[in-house]
Amino acid sequence: MAEKAKMIVDKDFRISKIDKRLYGSFIEHLGRAVYNGIYQPGHPSADEEGFRKDVLELVKELDVPIIRYPGGNFVSNFYWEDSVGPKDQRKKRLDLAWRTLETNEFGINEFTKWCKKANSEVMMAVNLGTRSITDALNLLEYCNLDTDTYYADLRRSHGDKEPYGIKTWCMGNEMDGPWQVGHKPAYEYGRLAAETAKAMKVMDDSLEFVLCGSSNVEMPTFPEWERITLTEAYDYVDYVSLHNYYGNRSNDTADFLAKTQDLEHFLHSVICTCDYVQAVKRSKKQINLSFDEWNVWYHTMDSDNEKMALKPWDQHPHLLEDHYNFEDALLNGLILITFLKHADRVKIACLAQLVNVIAPIMTEDDGPAWRQTIFYPFLHASKYGRGYALFCPLSSGKHDTAKHSDVTDIDATAVYNEEQGEVTIFAVNRNTEGDVEFSADLRSFEGASVIEHIGLAGYDMKAENSAGKENVAPAAFKGYTMDNGVFETILKSCSWNVIRFKV
Ligand code: AHR
Repeated sequence: MAEKAKMIVDKDFRISKIDKRLYGSFIEHLGRAVYNGIYQPGHPSADEEGFRKDVLELVKELDVPIIRYPGGNFVSNFYWEDSVGPKDQRKKRLDLAWRTLETNEFGINEFTKWCKKANSEVMMAVNLGTRSITDALNLLEYCNLDTDTYYADLRRSHGDKEPYGIKTWCMGNEMDGPWQVGHKPAYEYGRLAAETAKAMKVMDDSLEFVLCGSSNVEMPTFPEWERITLTEAYDYVDYVSLHNYYGNRSNDTADFLAKTQDLEHFLHSVICTCDYVQAVKRSKKQINLSFDEWNVWYHTMDSDNEKMALKPWDQHPHLLEDHYNFEDALLNGLILITFLKHADRVKIACLAQLVNVIAPIMTEDDGPAWRQTIFYPFLHASKYGRGYALFCPLSSGKHDTAKHSDVTDIDATAVYNEEQGEVTIFAVNRNTEGDVEFSADLRSFEGASVIEHIGLAGYDMKAENSAGKENVAPAAFKGYTMDNGVFETILKSCSWNVIRFKV
């Protein structure tokens, strides 16, 4: 007999309105993310500005409301002035983060235009590695001000009359990491971030700032880093960042799919640390979370490190081009479910990254753009995961894995889109050994009817997509019933499920 799992979806049990920026992403000057990714003049699909239209179409399909730029590690040695104005006068630079030659042919002027075409907002990171308050202020003036002053005039002289109106600003990147150019100890970074945000707020009080949290949960300085930096910067920032990448180096699918337990622990610890500092400060202000780098990343790590060591200073080399498989897509679905369950605190999240570099979208230099396996859970969540995150009690069987215990077979949550009159359940069966009989009680939504049950199931764990060959793509699932407000079906072993209801 199959295992059973039961869920209650009630319209009054609302966790929070979902911030649409939960479906953000990230473009870094790294590998082929920009060059031969979003920008490739001369490619048959390039538009008049050199932007690949095939890529833009896929980005629009994902409906990404905000995109972090220009890094990542890249930003910590970035001279933004080199990336604006007439292209023939732009300086070539060494990018120390990825040991690459940066031509600056594509920069802030181009990215802001590209984002408009992609229907996305820019989330801009400032360089707090090798630079400081002055440069952040100059960049802000260039981007956002309409004054008759040097940098605003400079932008206008570059043909961009209207300010870019960038609202969300990252105070550097992964400043806790010894690998970061200009890495700083917590107190020093906390002071710099506080003073930078304070000065930027004088220019524009409506901006929101993201403080660098830990680069990953394994950092030896976690969570003291958060406590110390927030103690310095609390009054000036709105979010603390979290980054984490996952991998399956031990080739143990069950344990890999249990890794959202670690993510839960990470989120819980950061939320507690924010709230601890709030309590110490007797502050009324709550700090929320910006999980601005998340994904699976391990397939190419070793070969990339070798490449950067042996052959530095190439232009847009193939770096971090992980080819994702089916189990990676399942983990991404589980991560998205976890974020939705914490939608009251996780307001921004960026799938890292968007094109070619650990990305859902890949390009062939001389060919088409194509969708990786991980494209689909993100697509579904972005498309159907808008509205209110619901708190859904769930009973499910559990199992143990090599490094995790009491792992629920089913992880699931639901979103209520009041405007559209729709409820969507997102569910993963991460039991590698069996199907699960699943029921969802939607009786609080009188007259609810099933629109569709779609998802990914039945693939080899290592199945991948490639240009022209989508081995892993969503299918419609049959075999469900809906009686008196109760939905029942079988969730296949190792499956991603999206169950949509009209309510
Ligand atoms: O996304 C790739 C890299 O991962 C980013 O540059 C950095 O912030 C993180 O370590």
